[in-house]
Amino acid sequence: MSTTATLATLSDSDLATDPNWWRQASVYQIYPRSFSDSNGDGLGDIRGITAKVPYLKQLGIDAVWLSPFYPSALADGGYDVDDYRDVDPKLGTLEDFAEMSAALHAAGIKLIADIVPNHSSNRHEWFQEALASPKGSAARDRYIFRDGKGPDGEFPPSDWDSVFGGPAWERITEPDGSPGQWYMHIFAKEQPDLNWANREVRDDFLKTLRFWSDRGVDGFRVDVAHALTKDLTEPLQSKLEIGTEDGTLDGSHPFWDRDEVHEIYAEWREVFNEYNPPRTAVAEAWVHASRRPRYASPKGLGQAFNFDLLQADFDAREFREIITRNLLEAAATGASSTWVFSNHDVVRHATRYGLPKATPEAHKRGKGQDGKAWLLAGAPEEELDRELGLRRARAATLLMLALPGSAYLYQGEELGLQEVSEIRESERQDPSFFRNRGVEIGRDGCRVPLPWTAEGASYGFGDGGAHLPQPRWFSDYAVGVQEEQEGSTLELYRQALRLRRELQAAEELTWHENAKGEVLHFTRPGGWHVVTNFGEESVELPPGELLVSSGPLEGGRLPANTTVWLRWQAK
Ligand code: NOJ
Repeated sequence: MSTTATLATLSDSDLATDPNWWRQASVYQIYPRSFSDSNGDGLGDIRGITAKVPYLKQLGIDAVWLSPFYPSALADGGYDVDDYRDVDPKLGTLEDFAEMSAALHAAGIKLIADIVPNHSSNRHEWFQEALASPKGSAARDRYIFRDGKGPDGEFPPSDWDSVFGGPAWERITEPDGSPGQWYMHIFAKEQPDLNWANREVRDDFLKTLRFWSDRGVDGFRVDVAHALTKDLTEPLQSKLEIGTEDGTLDGSHPFWDRDEVHEIYAEWREVFNEYNPPRTAVAEAWVHASRRPRYASPKGLGQAFNFDLLQADFDAREFREIITRNLLEAAATGASSTWVFSNHDVVRHATRYGLPKATPEAHKRGKGQDGKAWLLAGAPEEELDRELGLRRARAATLLMLALPGSAYLYQGEELGLQEVSEIRESERQDPSFFRNRGVEIGRDGCRVPLPWTAEGASYGFGDGGAHLPQPRWFSDYAVGVQEEQEGSTLELYRQALRLRRELQAAEELTWHENAKGEVLHFTRPGGWHVVTNFGEESVELPPGELLVSSGPLEGGRLPANTTVWLRWQAK
């Protein structure tokens, strides 16, 4: 593997002032509890991140997306927020946050904060006030309270399921000790849904956006962006009447992807534009592809995650169709596309690609036919080929890093890290595991603290232990090991991310039509050629200077499950 290109990167000061910095950024997701632990309590923290800024700089990413770091009882890994304008004392302080933000900026790295507007935690002072206040009070109106059905209100207001399993309603005890109303929670019962029809809720979030923007946050990742507005007109429909899980094409679902949600984001955009450069946002919205552009509109959040590649098999035809469609879609809205293979909610892609293709059979074992559940369900160990998985993951990532648009990377994927399945029930944390009574294995396997060194109590994660158990084989993946290893996955990411800055000069891609069915070949302006072999046989390489390759070549040919970047310009 060799890199011979001369680097012409944007300077750090260009990046700091460029209002379009996000369009083609490589964004590295940090799941703070599992990244780096500065005080040996087994939980990653803000100072731990600051200590690793040189690592992030060397990796070559443009921005960090920080998963929730707010005070939280961690009923859902921090997506249950007690206070939107503070740092969890377990993770540090606002001063630590300021230091981290300054260190990232000094290294030319932008900072994106996760914001969780659909629900607070049940420990949020508003929810506590709602519990202590009477039915019909202003405090209850900040959430979604309803009377139950049945003579004593003993049945939930509707038959809706929560995303993590079990009912989407929880009954409370009234202040006088009697069984009381029910509140809605699309996720865990510790995550009561906020009422976005309430002006106070809206204003408070505008305040939160300014609070973090004033503290150096450059952008926001918006959690469950498609669920905020709800039509809960009585009688509530039954789940059978409602049908689809992620909303309907006409926006008529009672809580997923309703059209009015965009009124909220138009207000947020006004706040973003108060700053220079304007703050950015990316929507986490699992909606029908045709409705995604609404979230990515420049009048709204500006960008939306596209999880299509993440849900696809390692398959040339699928990849090409997804890439083409998403680039067209992005061009139509003025946004740039987003690409992602791994995050804190899905099985790591180095493991996923080692599984048999996601046939309907395999889906059934996961649950449902939609692929998403399969990803959440964990990997059947006996059918797993980890080596193949890693080869394909490296090839897929190298292809993805060459696409126009922003690339979202998840901590540990630069190490080729695999999903951890060796977690005992007593050690599991994910509410989706518990609420499904173990039917779905949950998401802990991709949230295990990172290995930094081959030795040590928690493989260099900290001086103490790790809040989720790290398996022995983690030592082979450690940063320290890979830094010394020619051809390591870490080296591949560093090379590709450095080269990518040069490659990303213009947001154009042209398919090279001569490629065989199982080979994808596209060019980017400046004579960049990107070729991926999805087939089983090695194929001839087009001419050009080899810049980087996801795996060794075979006698000058491109082997199966491998991507190369070449540079060649016709005279
Ligand atoms: C999406 C987040 O990515 C996931 O981790 C979380 O459990 C849900 N939203 C609820 O906040």
